[in-house]
Amino acid sequence: MSIKLPANSKMLAPDFTFGVATAAFQIEGANTADNRLPCIWDIFCATPGKVINGDDGSMACDHYHLWQQDIELIKELGVDAYRLSIAWPRVMNEQGEANQAGLDFYRNLLTKLKEEGIKVFVTLYHWDLPQHLEDKGGWLNRETAYLFKEYADLVTRELAEWVDSWATFNEPFCAAILGYELGIHAPGLSKPEYGRQAAHHILLAHGLALPVIRQNAPKAQVGIVINMNRSYAASAKSEDEFACLIRETLDNQFFIEPLMKGQYPKLLANVAPQYLPQVLPGDMEIISQPIDFLGMNFYTCNHNAYDAENLFKDVKNSLPVEYTDIGWEIAPHAFEELLINLNKQYDLPPIFITENGAACDDHLVSGQVDDDQRVRYLNSHINAVNNAIEAGVDIRGYFAWSLMDNFEWAEGYNKRFGLVYVDYETQQRTIKRSGYAYQTFLSER
Ligand code: FCB
Repeated sequence: MSIKLPANSKMLAPDFTFGVATAAFQIEGANTADNRLPCIWDIFCATPGKVINGDDGSMACDHYHLWQQDIELIKELGVDAYRLSIAWPRVMNEQGEANQAGLDFYRNLLTKLKEEGIKVFVTLYHWDLPQHLEDKGGWLNRETAYLFKEYADLVTRELAEWVDSWATFNEPFCAAILGYELGIHAPGLSKPEYGRQAAHHILLAHGLALPVIRQNAPKAQVGIVINMNRSYAASAKSEDEFACLIRETLDNQFFIEPLMKGQYPKLLANVAPQYLPQVLPGDMEIISQPIDFLGMNFYTCNHNAYDAENLFKDVKNSLPVEYTDIGWEIAPHAFEELLINLNKQYDLPPIFITENGAACDDHLVSGQVDDDQRVRYLNSHINAVNNAIEAGVDIRGYFAWSLMDNFEWAEGYNKRFGLVYVDYETQQRTIKRSGYAYQTFLSER
């Protein structure tokens, strides 16, 4: 099995960007080094029962110390670009002043990436809110949106020189809904009205930061990264179709509609008003300012049946389908349909697929990892992107999640998404078969 596109694919042109992605908390470790402040994930990990095996981010991939060898790996894969995130608790102290030691880490990293000719895509917020801000209400506190603007200002003033593309947030859905509505991610709160209010403040923070980033980084592209799963109805029954519509509205439209059209989905006011946040005059204009690109993270699809209490419930596909090691259905057709549908619904800016990948049951045997499922996953999803482009969707790049195995949030180190295997005892990295398949595919363009 290999990764292959049709010979005439636009994705083989030199201006289509291929990359790999990571996030600070998931790889850096060193969570007290150089005055890094505690973040909500440090506290969440330390709370019994929240993360599998009680895993935490204190060591992770020790990328804070091993970054040079990790850049060698990125080079070896032959990608055009690397997507990483900056840890807010590393670069800003409680008084809102710069922490130079933390900034130096990123300065060195970014300088080296640029020297190696690798394009740099930075995400400002990949879920590691400083805990002192959570203590004041976190994303439930509107003030946090204004403090994010200060943080974005600091980082883009200090690091703009090396960055090609800035994303304000990674996956507001996960940060707000998993963190404040479902309680399965940090900070672990769970009320329907919390999730949506947190989401609104995150979107507001995005909008408040945009003009500041543009001013500090006039040459870079500026956007946001959202995640979407394609929703299907569990059956053709009208109540299941309704359940699917609600799911799609709450998970997907709730995030893209304010960004693209400056409003939350009208449907909610009638059927689920408890999911509408408090919005102040002017907020929606701030949120819906134009962006240069929309980042899209895609992994799987879901199937929905009607549920009297919650309006929808998740059910398994009734057909025999393949799942990854994290239990997510493999559904490349869903990816293609999702992109094509969005393109019909909205006047979209250029899209970058900022994450896509699979968790597999990987084993290092005689120095090799034979992750055939991941190779098939990457091949089918890269081809799904190609089909969407053929159908008229403007997609400019694709990033595999992830460069290497890392801390998979509530799943700890138990789930592996890397193109590179990490032995957490020795911190040894081994390129998996999927990494070599990606490398071969990229070198043959
Ligand atoms: C996404 C996250 C990323 C990673 C993948 C598997 O939701 O953005 O950090 O954990 O899922």
